Amino acid sequence: MKIAFVGKGGSGKTTLSSLFARSLAATGSPVLAFDADINQHLGVALGLSEEECARMPPLGGHLPLIKDYLRGRNPRIPDSDAMVKTTPPGAGSRLLRAVEDNPIYERCVREVDGVRLAVTGPFTDVDLGVACYHSKVGAAELLLNHLVDGPGEYVVVDMTAGADAFASGLFTRFDVTFLVCEPTVRSIGVYRQYLEYAKDFDVRIAAVGNKISDDDDRDFLRTQLGSDLLTCLSTSRHVRAAERGEVRPISALEDDNTAALTAMRDVVDGAEKDWAKFQRQAVEFHLRNAAAWASDRAGHDLSDQVDPDFQHGPAALPFSGAAPVS
Ligand SMILES: Nc1ncnc2c1ncn2[C@@H]1O[C@H](COP(=O)(O)OP(=O)(O)OP(=O)(O)O)[C@@H](O)[C@H]1O
Ligand SMILES: [Mg+2]
Repeated sequence: MKIAFVGKGGSGKTTLSSLFARSLAATGSPVLAFDADINQHLGVALGLSEEECARMPPLGGHLPLIKDYLRGRNPRIPDSDAMVKTTPPGAGSRLLRAVEDNPIYERCVREVDGVRLAVTGPFTDVDLGVACYHSKVGAAELLLNHLVDGPGEYVVVDMTAGADAFASGLFTRFDVTFLVCEPTVRSIGVYRQYLEYAKDFDVRIAAVGNKISDDDDRDFLRTQLGSDLLTCLSTSRHVRAAERGEVRPISALEDDNTAALTAMRDVVDGAEKDWAKFQRQAVEFHLRNAAAWASDRAGHDLSDQVDPDFQHGPAALPFSGAAPVS
């Protein structure tokens, strides 16, 4: 299952991504985590030192490798330059499993506390113009588009705050999107804005309260979010300890916060996989992207990269370079 964490800056996306990923990994589940945020903090939240994080090979710095591997023998994609962030898989493309050996994972994925982590890489000021900035997140989008996650496998993505995810189809790549909300008017504002952007796209969103310190906080979120509020995490000494550099085992997390993570996992495990929708939305955003700028830049019509007969999902694995689902 593919899971995104979104929400206002500072609401706790990274903290919750890391707690959720670590709690899944602690039960022996395969977990792949992507740091796709402008502020790259997921590695530290998982327990890496700043120096170790700085040494992580960024996905954004390995786009030629990623593109070349994923296009495989797809005749609609003659070379890696032809591949843009939204190019969908088709017959001959290589699909990825959440856990397997492949050159991309070998180069860019590192295991931290049982979680397999990849980072898009830090954004510079130059990246914050439209095309380049999104090309780094684009590496994650390409991987997600080609990733066939089986039941009980989890792909957790720490996303950038606000509306940036809507500049491409990235926000549609998830089985469940957790929208992290602090009990503040501004956080609720970001929540409503996200819902508004996503409303036409059949995206499954669950609100998760965070940094709750008393009943007033909880009541505020309940009133504002109603039944959209799945669960809440309280202000956590476990998280505060991590901020002081003391990363405690996930088994030492407070009981109420552990229960909140379990409720989140239950939602993910209960979500229905819809591979046809997944591919349909990938194609939809690719066609938009091609019409908006990508075809112009490539010098030819990139809508011809769409393979109308391709059926995404586990059934497609035996025909790609990836290992079949066991
Ligand atoms: N449940 C919690 N209890 C205590 N502190 C928390 C909790 N959740 C988050 N924090 C703290 O709040 C701060 C912001 O959290 P975090 O970095 O996870 O937010 P973010 O949404 O990823 O921020 P950004 O938008 O900058 O990426 C951090 O100092 C973090 O330790
Ligand atoms: Mg963050």
